Order: sequence, then C-alpha cells, then structure tokens
Amino acid sequence: MLVAAPSRPPALRIGSVLVDPPILQAPMAGFTNYAFRQIVRQFGGVGLQATEMISAKGFLAIEGRHELPDRLWGVIDEPRPLAVQIWDNDPATLAAVGARLAHEFGVSVVDINFGCPVRQVTVEAHSGSYLLRFPDRVGAIVERVVRACAPTPVTAKIRLGCTRDTITAVEIAQVVEGAGAAALTVHGRTAQDFFKGSADWERISSLKEHLKRIPLIGNGDLDSPGKVVEAFRRYRVDGVMIARASLAKPWLFRQAQAALAGEPVPPDLSLAEERELLLHHYRLVAQRFGDEKGTILMRKFACCYAQGRAGAREFRSHVARVAAPSEFHHVVETYFPREVSRRPADSLTSEFFRPAERDARLQTRCATKYQPSGR
Ligand SMILES: Cc1cc2nc3c(=O)[nH]c(=O)nc-3n(C[C@H](O)[C@H](O)[C@H](O)COP(=O)(O)O)c2cc1C
Repeated sequence: MLVAAPSRPPALRIGSVLVDPPILQAPMAGFTNYAFRQIVRQFGGVGLQATEMISAKGFLAIEGRHELPDRLWGVIDEPRPLAVQIWDNDPATLAAVGARLAHEFGVSVVDINFGCPVRQVTVEAHSGSYLLRFPDRVGAIVERVVRACAPTPVTAKIRLGCTRDTITAVEIAQVVEGAGAAALTVHGRTAQDFFKGSADWERISSLKEHLKRIPLIGNGDLDSPGKVVEAFRRYRVDGVMIARASLAKPWLFRQAQAALAGEPVPPDLSLAEERELLLHHYRLVAQRFGDEKGTILMRKFACCYAQGRAGAREFRSHVARVAAPSEFHHVVETYFPREVSRRPADSLTSEFFRPAERDARLQTRCATKYQPSGR
C-alpha cells in the first residue's frame, strides 16, 4: 500500500527534545505501561512515548515508604525520549513530583494532564479536564511545574473544554504557552463527549493561530496511516498523537511514519505474528506482575489484539475470563483467530475502555479536593 504524502512534516521540537517523526504515543491509563512501550518501540516510528498518567499526590504519599508508583515501572532505565504524565490540581504537589521526575529520573518531558474526563479525577479530585474551566489555575500549575523542572520541558494535554457549551481551548492554550510550557496536545473532544462522536480537528487546527511559540499536537481518532497523512495535510498541527488504535496495532506508528515519508507502508502483522506478539507481551507483563496478577492484567490487552479479524469476538469472550497462565495459553491456542479473512470492523466500543475509570479510582485515593474560590 502506498499512501500519498504531500510533503514530509518536519521533526518536532519540544524544548530541547527532538521528536522525530512528529508522531507521539499517547498516555493511556492502564495500558501504556513499560511492556506496551517496549513493544511500540520495537516496531519504531514513534517520536515520543508517554507513560500512563500518574497521580502526583499518590506519588508523594508513598515516597516516605521508599516506594514508587507501579506506573513508573521501567521509567528509570528505558530509552529516551520518554514523557511522564502527572495529574493533580495543586501547583506545589505537581511541581514537587515534576522536579523529581526531571532531575532524579531524567525523563525527557513532564506532561500535565488537563484532559482526563473520568469522574474520579474530575468530580472527586477536581483535576484533569475539570481544570479547563479555570484557566488561572492551569496557568499557575504550568508556571510552577516549568520552574521546578527546568531545563526539562513541560507540556500540557487538554481537551477542547468541559462541555460543548464551554469550549475554553483557546484561552487555555494561551495560558499554557504564556506560563512557559514547551508544547500543547489537544484531544478534539470535550470532557462531556468522553469518546462519543468524532474528534473535531477543525477546532484543534484553529488553535494554531493562537500559539506563537510552541508546537501544537493534534489527537483524536487517528487509526490508519492515511488518517495521519491527512491530519498533517488538512490541519495546522506540528505533530499528531495516537492512542486507542495503537493498542490493536502497536506497529501503526511505523506504518504512519512510512506513509508520511511517502514510502511503502509495511503490511499489518499476520495473525500468526500477532499471536506471537501477544504471547511476548504476556511474558513481559507476567515477569513484572507475577503469573496471577499478570494474567488478569493481560486480559484487556489480549482483547485489543486480533481486532477486526474473524473470530476476534469469540476470542475476547474467552480471554476476558482467564485467571491462570495455563488458561491464558489454552485460550490463545484454541481461540486466537487463525483465518486470514477479515470481517467488517469488529472494533472495541468505548465501553471497553471504562476500566480506565477503575484505574483512575485507584490513583485518586490520596487526592484532595480543590475548589477555586469565586467561581
Ligand atoms: C483506556 C484509556 C486510557 C487513557 N488514559 C489517559 C491518560 O492517562 N492520560 C491522558 O492524557 N489521556 C488518556 N487517555 C486519552 C488518550 O490519550 C487520547 O487522548 C484519546 O484516547 C483520544 O485519542 P485516540 O482517538 O487516538 O484514542 C486515555 C484513553 C483511553 C482509551
């Protein structure tokens, strides 16, 4: 397959960090752990990878016990560039954690989450997308974290606003840039949308004219090399970020990179190769979390593989219940699709991603509330 690329977009600069190609792997709670990042890295084509979002308060709470959040698994040793995403609503807390990540862990980029729509983060912890209604607070957070992390660049990831009636992206973008951030990523939905409808790339694009200095990274619904090429061709973005589609195709970044360069796009993995990849992924997860927890954790990843293939639904229904390594191997052996034929798209619905809420709940135990005064 050859996807026509009008011109290859230049590499992206986030502060001193070169992001080449300008294709980023999105943070995804419960998914973008070290095992997944290693797999994406093996295929290549990704300019910057990101961890799952990490609760800054949770981080500080266990610090005294000389523990680190599970979500920092691999971060110290893995290749750079790497972005770590943090969330909270308190500038001092975020700055303290950002400083540790920048100076002790030597991460390439500290990213702040202003987009999470999950109830436990917004309603209960007044963080994530909740803050999109409070530009002053966003500015105070970014400014403080930038100072604490310097010279490590700090970035922000936002949605368009809290609701369709309260789109605040322009104001937030200006505040983020004014406070010294090095890049802005925008998911083209509101928090209220969750994952419904389509990402609004026109609105993402319209933010470009409001940014004087920092790159704009667009995010939402990019699930093929062609759509990545189209995003650069039609919209004024300096980079793109891919999330859900990469769970089913961790090789999508490599395909998109080739498409942007006007090169032949490498084919999808065969089912046999995909099956091997799934087992490799399983080994990485089980090595870290042990057989029992690893098997349970792997259920959701396994559900992502084989998407769109005949038999994927049946495989999911079995793998979603496995509890031990022998069961896992049996189910993969017996039910992982083997046919070459493809059925019409059998993709995961947004309901599938609800477990992210459970992950967030675990992360919010230590979060306290922030109620801006006068609003
Ligand atoms: C399961 C799941 C977990 C997510 N976790 C995070 C997160 O930790 N931090 C964040 O900024 N966005 C998170 N997101 C949002 C994605 O990064 C991305 O903005 C969104 O999925 C839209 O991109 P896509 O259409 O390519 O999936 C998550 C999305 C999903 C589906």
